[in-house]
Amino acid sequence: MKVGIFSAKAYDEAVFNSANPSSEIELHYIPAHLDCDTVAICSQFDVVCVFVNDDVSAAVVDALANHGVKHIALRCAGYNNVDLEQAKARGLAVSHVPAYSPEAVAEHAVALMLTLNRKMNKAYNRVREGNFDLTGLTGFTMAGKTAGVVGTGNIGHATAHILLGFGCKVVCFDPYPKQELIDAGAQYVTFDHLLEQSDIITLHCPLNEQSYHLINDQTVARMRDGVMLINTSRGGLIDTHAVINGLKSRKIGYLGLDVYEMESELFFRDHSFEIIQDDVFERLLTFHNVMITGHQGFFTQEALDQIASTTLNNIHKVAGGETESPTFLVAPPESHT
Ligand code: NAI
Repeated sequence: MKVGIFSAKAYDEAVFNSANPSSEIELHYIPAHLDCDTVAICSQFDVVCVFVNDDVSAAVVDALANHGVKHIALRCAGYNNVDLEQAKARGLAVSHVPAYSPEAVAEHAVALMLTLNRKMNKAYNRVREGNFDLTGLTGFTMAGKTAGVVGTGNIGHATAHILLGFGCKVVCFDPYPKQELIDAGAQYVTFDHLLEQSDIITLHCPLNEQSYHLINDQTVARMRDGVMLINTSRGGLIDTHAVINGLKSRKIGYLGLDVYEMESELFFRDHSFEIIQDDVFERLLTFHNVMITGHQGFFTQEALDQIASTTLNNIHKVAGGETESPTFLVAPPESHT
């Protein structure tokens, strides 16, 4: 069985090769994104393995089906970049890795909070330059602050637990509340209440039609003055122009992003010798109270190992004729078996 792994990096190759000791599955690593241009090479593959910024829209799904590809194996949790309806209509199975290390992303979200709050980036540089002046480095004590968690699935749940451990008052918004979090001391509130009460807001819901630009001019206006906003979920949850306005008016006091709406043009590649053309992104970088990382929330060794083993397991399951699995977003049609 031939698998084309798109958007492949050296670290993908290392973990997938070590999780695939047998030659039963032939892995082909392709550094380019999957999109309308690169889909032409897929006639040689039975399975394509894709990541967060690959384009698996309806046209690409059609082309994959025409090339005889049977399975789209996502090596990530989010699937907003895949047209599931079209995959189902064209008889392609789609699988993903729903929870490889929710703690990894939760810990990264909290790392952004702590770095912004205690200004670790500035402190690091000052001390290296022999500057031990503390002026401007004042932070706030996390204990006692109200932290709002939007989406309490695997990652939001792990984040809420860390914040409860810090002594924060944790308020959550999710259409499906978790009793276990309530028992641990968190409170479920309406989205408006969360916006109005929180000193820190951290986003952990998926990107879909309902959540697109969840953070916009209107919702920013409802937030507390000087709020800290963290997004490690998907860039499209935030209208970037609205948060830039919020930063300029000081409504938003801190912004931590691991994702960005237009990240597919930028992230996961070295642009350090280029002139970045995205003026909105460049404006974000000019604020002293903005910290951006390039979609690395998932990036721990444990998570990479789990991603590789679950993805290969999904490939074996579909090839072996299984039609039901919690990791299938679109089950393989009976005719596959
Ligand atoms: P999950 O599916 O376990 O949880 C999502 C939760 O959000 C569910 O409880 C759902 O009920 C809730 N939800 C759905 N719509 C909502 C809305 N409009 N408002 C509030 N809650 C809503 O997903 P998981 O594993 O926790 O991942 C969350 C997101 O994190 C993924 O969709 C993905 O986009 C992102 N992610 C980011 C990574 C990174 O490296 N930065 C890595 C992995 C995931």
